Amino acid sequence: MTWTPSSWRKFPIKQQPEYKDQEALKRVEEELRTFPPLIFAGEARELKSKLAQVARGEAILLQGGDCAESFANFNATNIRELFKVLLQMNMVLMYSSGKPVVKIGRIAGQYAKPRSSPVERIGDVELPSYRGDIINEIEFSPQAREAKPEKMIEAYYKSAATLNLIRAYARGGFADLRQVHQWTLEFLQDNELGQRFKELADKITEALRFMEACGVDPDNTPQLKQTTLYTSHEALLLPYEEALTRRDSFTGEWYDCSAHFLWIGDRTRDLDGAHVEFFRGIRNPIGVKVGPSMGEEELLRLIERLNPENEAGRLTLIVRMGAEKIGELFPPLLRRVRDAGWNVVWSIDPMHGNTYKTEKGLKTRDFEQILREVRAFFEIHKAEGTIPGGLHLEMTGSNVTECTGSISASITEEALTSRYHTQCDPRLNADQALELAFMVAENFKELGR
Ligand code: PEP
Ligand code: CO
Repeated sequence: MTWTPSSWRKFPIKQQPEYKDQEALKRVEEELRTFPPLIFAGEARELKSKLAQVARGEAILLQGGDCAESFANFNATNIRELFKVLLQMNMVLMYSSGKPVVKIGRIAGQYAKPRSSPVERIGDVELPSYRGDIINEIEFSPQAREAKPEKMIEAYYKSAATLNLIRAYARGGFADLRQVHQWTLEFLQDNELGQRFKELADKITEALRFMEACGVDPDNTPQLKQTTLYTSHEALLLPYEEALTRRDSFTGEWYDCSAHFLWIGDRTRDLDGAHVEFFRGIRNPIGVKVGPSMGEEELLRLIERLNPENEAGRLTLIVRMGAEKIGELFPPLLRRVRDAGWNVVWSIDPMHGNTYKTEKGLKTRDFEQILREVRAFFEIHKAEGTIPGGLHLEMTGSNVTECTGSISASITEEALTSRYHTQCDPRLNADQALELAFMVAENFKELGR
């Protein structure tokens, strides 16, 4: 069947809002269609070729950011802090593995959320669930929970401004290796993790000095003062994604220009559903979440549908089984994909299979469980002779208390309430994310030996 940016409309679709005012929806879609693309197709192709390196084990994927970005927390500090912790993790991973790190933020468009129930009930009141700031508002009132198409316009502008700042940080000197000590100033003093990072930063500074003496420095070698942070989000709200899907003038191919990388969530990956139909036609690098309910045949058919030409770097499978289940559920899938010869990037999301509620009703994740799932992911790959590509994390650069545990943060269930700010799922804070990176770095280092 022929594909067009709107062919998904003929397929059953899940997790969409009901817009009362269909005329307003049409007007918004029309308007979005006239807006400039947020990314250039050439950048998406560049990312695809870097992900092909990840698939071959020549680079590491690091994808992370908020569960849900929010309009209220849209500010420079949050963007800068996430950028900074991703840079730190990048250094840790790169230094110990000797491989480049492909960095993708869950940022500049991560505004739409799938929900376990279409409605939320508090006492006697039942309202539509919050579906992300691109759709409705988190406050529990009929007015706030109504889906409003105009929010797509606001999401577009906020994504554009976020992306602009990311590009500025990436190219404007913030990522200069001579700054490596600056990224960490606040937490350096009496924290063991900060000490560990400082030691690494010292080594990098020393290596840089040596290279400078050889005539290689950030002024004549831009790679030493620039980086790239690609953008990504779950392409859930298809009217928005369709409107930003454009034909590349160089190749004639279609790209979803709302972000460099898009993924299909675990709840919307039905083989015959609208999301798979939409994704098969865009040429961006894409991801699919692989949760506990994924069948072996189903996965093979999905891969075939989404990447029939077996192009390396096109498809990332983001495994999210949970620490308890990964040992049983992942190996059979991995073997089938390996034996069939499919080129994919395997990434681990140790967040979504490890969520639970505390007695007080707060959604949280335990750092130990997160580590366990990541370790199991590496061990399984080792046993099967396949390549672990990287990590997919919900994390923030600020000092929140949303996940329990870790050596550096040692957050207890009772302490969660002190800085619990997420709009949706619990995120790793900067210390927890960095600690995870140090642990994962050891695993990647072993692979390279
Ligand atoms: C997410 O990544 O925020 C998410 C909803 O994940 P999943 O689709 O794997 O549940
Ligand atoms: Co989430």
